[in-house]
Amino acid sequence: MKYKRILLKLSGEALMGEKQFGIDPVILSRYAEEVKAISKAGVEVAIVIGGGNIFRGIQAAEGGMDRVQGDYMGMLATVINSMALQSALEMIGVDTRLQSAIKMEQICEVFIRRKAVRHLEKGRVVIFGAGTGNPYFTTDTAATLRGIEIEADVILKGTRVDGIYDMDPEKNKHAVMFETLSFTEVYEKNLNVMDMTAFTLCKENKLPIIVFNMNKAGNLMNVVKGDKVGTMVEF
Ligand code: GTP
Repeated sequence: MKYKRILLKLSGEALMGEKQFGIDPVILSRYAEEVKAISKAGVEVAIVIGGGNIFRGIQAAEGGMDRVQGDYMGMLATVINSMALQSALEMIGVDTRLQSAIKMEQICEVFIRRKAVRHLEKGRVVIFGAGTGNPYFTTDTAATLRGIEIEADVILKGTRVDGIYDMDPEKNKHAVMFETLSFTEVYEKNLNVMDMTAFTLCKENKLPIIVFNMNKAGNLMNVVKGDKVGTMVEF
């Protein structure tokens, strides 16, 4: 395995599958199987999942809701997704721990970095819920922050497209995918990899990012092995 400890960022919206809202159990269990495979192969896995399938703070703010209130609601949405993923993983025999950036002790542990690292060392999959616990920060930023804190080797951003393209591949069939990019190239080409806060955190902390298609079976394993899958952003 090329990577020993990873931070996997999953999209909340991807969990919807073909549905308009909520969680598609088929996608959920597929994701759980993919995670199980790399965890059983000895990779230490931490996960941050978005909440866009349930609630989006920014959209709510556009509709007139208080932005901060909307962002907190979005954080709670990520906890719901995290609990669903935890449950799906445990159903197939994967040890997990869920830590939240917002204290809700009846439901999960609170985020404590040292505890999270200990869980990883014991082979448990650690899911981080409630983003960073602060409004105005995305789950990409939460993923990056946690990735840095646990000293992950790489951020794996699972998406529904194969990698980073020069144009939106879902809108333009001539879009070309990059195999590798430097952090500077991403800035120069104005590519949309993550929001700027998340991206800059990765850059400043020399944490590489791989964007790959999470909906292709076996892809996660191939990424972790170091195969040429998706787009790698590095130095
Ligand atoms: P080690 O003792 O290091 O092996 O870790 P552990 O997670 O097994 O020990 P701990 O006693 O901390 O946790 C036992 C179980 O309780 C685990 O399933 C934890 O996720 C859960 N747990 C621990 N702290 C909390 C909490 O504050 N709230 C909730 N809801 N569960 C917790």
